[in-house]
Amino acid sequence: MNKPLKILGIAGSLRRHSYNRGALRAAQQLVPEGATLDVFDLAGIPGFNQDEEQNPPHKVVDLKRHIREADAILFVTPEYNYSIPGVLKDAIDWASRPYGDSAWNGKPAAIMGASIGGIATARAQYHLRQIMVFLNMFPLNQPEVMIGNAAERFDADGNLTDEATKDYIRKLLQNLVEWTRRIKQPEAN
Ligand SMILES: Cc1cc2nc3c(=O)[nH]c(=O)nc-3n(C[C@H](O)[C@H](O)[C@H](O)COP(=O)(O)O)c2cc1C
Repeated sequence: MNKPLKILGIAGSLRRHSYNRGALRAAQQLVPEGATLDVFDLAGIPGFNQDEEQNPPHKVVDLKRHIREADAILFVTPEYNYSIPGVLKDAIDWASRPYGDSAWNGKPAAIMGASIGGIATARAQYHLRQIMVFLNMFPLNQPEVMIGNAAERFDADGNLTDEATKDYIRKLLQNLVEWTRRIKQPEAN
């Protein structure tokens, strides 16, 4: 019997009624058997400062520990000005440093994102995929979960209400679990 896989979910919005935080909460209800999904809250992540990378703030130490303990990462990103939000980039940069001590190295990952617009975070998601090249992460390709017109799919508190979107998230998580097992146990395939 396989050990349960640990997925760490990170949402790139700090907003109280965030659609992306809501999508991550929904994902916690949709995780397949054999996996768990814990959330790391980026509130309190400071702006990256290379002067402090050898002795990073507690929040960053905690983030790196959570990443290292996880088998896979689920990024849930808003799109800010056609890219990922600064707080998510800061978190990524902190956890990638100092050089040679990146917590991201070799981690499988999945991406989803929600936007009030119709392009549905596509541009931000492709920026995140580009970032993962240098991080040496292994992003899952499909399904691409791009949740557009979010105001129609979430309630006023940011809870996901759209059943079709839940199905996409369910499939994303199933594929992430299979992808992670393939990467962790290549000899079994
Ligand atoms: C600084 C800023 C930039 C934004 N840029 C974009 C953008 O480039 N594309 C887009 O689809 N939505 C953009 N939006 C709108 C976001 O989709 C919307 O604010 C969304 O609710 C953010 O996600 P959240 O609900 O998880 O906080 C932007 C919002 C802010 C605050």
